[in-house]
Formats: sequence, C-alpha cells, structure tokens
Amino acid sequence: MDGGVFRPDWNSNGHPPAPLREEQADIVVIGSGMAGLVAALRLAPRRVTLLTKTPDLPGGSSHWAQGGIAVALGAEDTAGSHAADTVAAGAGLTDPAVAELLAREGIARLSRWLAQGLPADRGGDGAVVLGREAAHSAQRILHAGGDATGRTLVAWLADRVRQAAHVDIHTGAFAWDLVMQNDRVAGVLAHHAGRGWVFHRCGAVLLASGGIGQLWRHTTNPVEATADGLALAARAGADLADLEFVQFHPTALAGSTAGQVPLLTEALRGAGAHLLDGDGLRFMPAEHPLAELAPRDVVARAIGRRVAAGQPVFLDLRALWAADGAVRFPTVAGICAAAGIDPAVSPVPVAPAAHYHMGGVVTDQDGRTSLCGLWAAGEVACTGVHGANRLASNSLLEAVVFAERAADDMLVRAPLALPAAPLPAVPPVTGTRATLDELAVAAREIMATRVGLVRDGAGLAAARTELLRLERRAARLPAATAADAVRPAGELANRLLVSRLIVEAALARTESRGAHTRTDWPAARAVWRRRQIVNTRTPLPATVAAE
Ligand code: SIN
Repeated sequence: MDGGVFRPDWNSNGHPPAPLREEQADIVVIGSGMAGLVAALRLAPRRVTLLTKTPDLPGGSSHWAQGGIAVALGAEDTAGSHAADTVAAGAGLTDPAVAELLAREGIARLSRWLAQGLPADRGGDGAVVLGREAAHSAQRILHAGGDATGRTLVAWLADRVRQAAHVDIHTGAFAWDLVMQNDRVAGVLAHHAGRGWVFHRCGAVLLASGGIGQLWRHTTNPVEATADGLALAARAGADLADLEFVQFHPTALAGSTAGQVPLLTEALRGAGAHLLDGDGLRFMPAEHPLAELAPRDVVARAIGRRVAAGQPVFLDLRALWAADGAVRFPTVAGICAAAGIDPAVSPVPVAPAAHYHMGGVVTDQDGRTSLCGLWAAGEVACTGVHGANRLASNSLLEAVVFAERAADDMLVRAPLALPAAPLPAVPPVTGTRATLDELAVAAREIMATRVGLVRDGAGLAAARTELLRLERRAARLPAATAADAVRPAGELANRLLVSRLIVEAALARTESRGAHTRTDWPAARAVWRRRQIVNTRTPLPATVAAE
C-alpha cells in the first residue's frame, strides 16, 4: 500500500478498479432475520435488494430464538388477553392500540403462514401445541422444532426468499450509511466482501438490522448484533425512542467467555424448572408471587444480585429431564452436553445476559420512520409494543406483523422513479483489526460494568466520560490499510454512537421502570410515564425537574 492510503477496491492483480460501483433497486432491505425475510417476500413484485453483513442467509438473532411466537390461537385465549399481558409487561410505556393491533393481526397473519406450511409443532390431533412463558396469562407460545423455533422458522423463510425472483440477495454486505438527498433517502452505501464499495441507489429502505446485544460483555445475540441499524438511522437524523430499555435474559449459561452465550429458554421455567441459589434453595417465591414466572426483569435482577455478590445461581432441570425434557428441548440438551453438564444429574449454572432492545427507530403502525423513504421493522424498530419491558416471545410476532405492514405500505409509497442523487464519496476508513477490536472491547466493558441490569447516575456519568474518551481515540486512528478493517471500523463507530445515546437516555430517565433500574431513583415516577425521543439533530432532553 502506498503511503498507508486505503484503497477500498484494490484487486489481487494490483489494478484499482473504480472505487465505487452503482447498483439500483426499487427497495433495499437491510438485514436478514425474521423481519427482513418476511418483508422481502412480501415486497413482490418490486425489485428488492437484500443486504446482510452475515456470510449466509439467514442472519441475526431470530435464528437463535428458542422461545417461540406468542399468538392467541388457543380456544380459551383472546387477542384482548394477549394485548393486556403485553401492556402490563410494558410498565406504563406500551401503546395499548399497537399492542391490540399486534395481538389481533398476529392471529390472522400466523394462521395464514400456518396454512402455507409454516412448520410449527403440532400434537397428535394435528393442532398447534401452545406452551406457557412468564407473564402470559394463557398457553399461547407456538414453537417449531421444540426449542429450535427461530432456526426452523427463518430457515423456512430463507428458502422462500432464495427462490423469489424479485429479491437480489447480497451476503457479506455491510451497510455503511444511508445516503440522503434533500432530507429523503436516496440509497445505501455498502461495503461488499470481495467487491468493495457499492452505492445502492433506491427510493426506499427498510431497516431490519436487528439488535444491539453485542454492546455488552455477555449477550444471547450473535456477533452481528452491533447496533448498526440504529446508528445508520441516527446519523441520518431519524427519531429514536426508549433507548434506555434493554432487556437482560435471566438464564444464559454462566461461566462463558465474552460474546454470545448460550440461552436456556424461558420455556423451561414455563415447563416447571426452578431456580436455585448456591445452597440449593429456591429463592424466586420470596421475590415475586409468580416465582420463576415473574416478569423477566424481576427474575433477571434477582439472579443478577446474587451473581454480583459472588453467589452462583442454578436452573434445576432434573425433574423436567426425568420426564421428557431432553426430547422437548433438544437445543438446551445440546448446549448442556457441549458444556459437559448432564441436566438430569446437575442443576445448570445461569446468569443474566443482554438479550433484547425495547428501544429503536420510532415507527408508526406501518413501519414508517420520521425520515422520508425510511421504514423499519423488527428489533431495530420501536413500534410502541414493548414499552419498558418486552413480554416473552412477542418479538418474532412483532417482526411478522410489522414487517408485513411495512412492506404493504412500501408497496404503495416507495417511489417508482430512482432518486437523482450524486454518487456519495467513499468514506475514509481508519484503524487496524487489532486497534478496532481493542476499542470495541473497551466500550463493551464500560457498558457491562456501568450500563447493565442495575445503574446509577454516577456510573452513567462515568460511562459517558469514558465513552467520549474512546470516541476521541477512535477519531485519531490512522488510515486503514486493509479491506478487512471496513466492517470492524463501521461497527466500532456504530457501537460508540449507540452506546453513548443509550447512556444519555439512561441518565436522563431519573426513575426505575421496567428494564431500566437505577439505585439512585428506585421508584417509577409519574412524570416519566412517557417515551423519551432522541435524535442527533437536537440535544438530548435535560433531566426533568423534581416532582
Ligand atoms: C426464550 O426462549 O427464553 C427467549 C424468548 C424471548 O426472548 O422472547
């Protein structure tokens, strides 16, 4: 490389091709989890380009979902009851109209998918088997492949997308930024492994890029969950909401190294598994009337307190395994086998891990964001369904309902003519793999120690200072000399931006509500029974005055 200048498209034959290609589509979908796949299918006959940074289709957290899809299909169940449970879990911030829409349309949309062959688990009578999970007042969790629900469903969807002639699939394609012209979306600038920079000119983009779990040390999310979609939307000036609400799953396998950790599905507790402390005693009955089936944040904090005090916590699967547990939960059986644990004999050590982001890019009921030409669906979106705390197994349902609604709206509104924006500039890329990884780990440690399950003002303020220091270090990195720095450089920028937005939102919310717990503000406050909307065009709201 001459003078350390990064040549984004340098060929192995030594000849630099044009640094930026242009490709065109009616609509670009970013992300290949449940929401991206569902929307891409639904967008026929428009020409869709599907960008996913993962090497394969599908990608994202949906694949890893063990718990299923909450849907009120049971004879005794109703959409009203499902909506009421969703609102109760949301701790005052769920929009009841959106919860009602989710529950009602979920029944119709899932019934249609089931009629089209969605491979759900069925009983001997052919009826879909519905399980129980925390804070649901009915048996309403649909599974597929036992605890392999996400994997089974997205594989089925991905096969259909691969066969869809209107979808042009690009794996290994990292969406670097939205390209804007006169305040409306004009395309996506992406870096493709092996092909370099491409400007995808289009008049409409659906963000379906998933979550943010990799911003913490331990997460149930895969390696790609680095908050890219939120950062893209934020830099383009979109409204974001509820960023401070991050759900930690109570029962990830403890003792794992940093990164993605195996999940022990909540359905295990729904099927009767108990939590035990280091003395082998159940502690949840003393914590909450619903014991192990208390809301997820309550269970996570009860476990987190003990783990932080150095006490181990176990999930006792012995009774379940003495029956048919290993057959009903093959993914969990595999996780335990890989960890050298026999759940029939020994309780399994567990600890909370970052799992789901309730916050996201603000959308209306049709997935429309505050930016012209930008829609969002799935975990990256904030529809108002989850409020301060998501009800278990509502996320895949939300992805189906709102991805289809967004696609239907895009079919009507996505412009037919391509925007005439000039080609964007190829961005400067800085850093080496080693320095970028080092900064990413440092940011992750700040989030894990100061912005976890339990927070306080002093810790959050320190997190802000430390993240700003990392931002300054990142800004001083020298130009990159290798194409493999592009994705980590982009991910680091996204991670730092979104981490700081979360910290600012958590600092501003001077109360405890749902998944946001502050020891210096331990109660919910009426003044904060509202969403906190932020964007990068205006400063974050100042802390509200004391009541
Ligand atoms: C689980 O299986 O426990 C996770 C399900 C969810 O997060 O909805």
